[in-house]
Amino acid sequence: MKYNFDEVIDRQNTNAIKYEPSVLKEMFKSEDVLPLWVADMDFKCPDVVVNAILKRAEHGIFGYSDGDDSYYEVFMDWNKRRNQWEIQREWICYTPGIVPAVNYIVQAFCHTGDKVIIQNPVYYPFAQAILNNGAQVVTNPLKREGDQYVMDYEDFETKAKDPRVKLFILCSPHNPIGRVWRKEELERIGEICLANDVLVVSDEIHSDLIMNGYKHIPFASLSKAFAAHSITCMAPSKTFNIAGLQISNIVIPDAHIRMAYQTILENNAIRHPNTFGIVAQKSAYGEGEAWLGEVLEYIEANMDYIDDFVKTRLPEITFVKPEATYLAWLDMSRLGMNPEELETWMQTEVKLALDEGYIFGEGGEGYERINAACPRSILKEALERIEKAVKKRSL
Ligand SMILES: Cc1ncc(COP(=O)(O)O)c(C=O)c1O
Repeated sequence: MKYNFDEVIDRQNTNAIKYEPSVLKEMFKSEDVLPLWVADMDFKCPDVVVNAILKRAEHGIFGYSDGDDSYYEVFMDWNKRRNQWEIQREWICYTPGIVPAVNYIVQAFCHTGDKVIIQNPVYYPFAQAILNNGAQVVTNPLKREGDQYVMDYEDFETKAKDPRVKLFILCSPHNPIGRVWRKEELERIGEICLANDVLVVSDEIHSDLIMNGYKHIPFASLSKAFAAHSITCMAPSKTFNIAGLQISNIVIPDAHIRMAYQTILENNAIRHPNTFGIVAQKSAYGEGEAWLGEVLEYIEANMDYIDDFVKTRLPEITFVKPEATYLAWLDMSRLGMNPEELETWMQTEVKLALDEGYIFGEGGEGYERINAACPRSILKEALERIEKAVKKRSL
């Protein structure tokens, strides 16, 4: 391995929200918590990205900037090479983030009172985006069958038939439950959307973070009909740990849908990417693949570490290794606490700052999400804190 992901890097005083004492105090009632919540990595991004940014910084002028051909080509090449998906240049709409994009999409395609389907437990800003822009949330809860989560197609179809349902936000791979959706699953849900004229918004921000043995399939790559009926949200942010640079690529093959989205961007004066984001996208997609291979190996070993720890030392907790993402989804319901008690216990007794399962919607109660993109020593410390507090509870 070229990179040393065991290195513990001090992120204090870097404006990192994960570590900012005032944020921790507000969200977790204390600054004295080990933060493994928001989804960024505690690893340095690829050195090629750091070097490209340093070089650009030396120039000293940071005026309005725009993506050039290579900014788009690296993203298109990446998808062709890794996802066997051929994207055309004009399909790509720059947006400063996927959460902003989801908000703009709701603004573009929903009138007040229209409905949007999501599959809870799911990344909670989806529901916020829907509600904040005057639409209604329709839930199609994922079903837990044994060790795995599956989609409930019958429930989905019933709900998709409602003419007020305009959008379905697919989380692929799924945060927080870590599924990589198979071809058959995507096809089945996609067919229902096509038949009922529901536009598919496929959030694929985690699609580069795939564990060994699994393969991500972009929804839009499955057929021309799916492509023409979808918006795919991708970004180098999670993949290369550059979320603070605010670059995302929203891919819209259909010209009419694209125009509607672009009108909203125009109306919100969203035009040009930030200077360092452009440089980062080019160097990350262009030269960061070897780093990604190494970081994925490390993350997968972290997931194995959690798996082993939970099985041997925390039998009260259930953990199923995710197929993708660096997010571990732990079922702590057998500890016998309601969501508020679990949250308070996590903050005051365990002293960890985690994303509580209930914030991801119904079905998340009793779960905790641990961000495992951290040095193993930190993960060990976190799990030992849980073990100690569990033992204390059972005394
Ligand atoms: C599914 C999903 N979508 C979007 C985001 C954030 O996107 P952005 O930072 O580009 O707004 C996250 C971050 O955790 C996520 O998990």
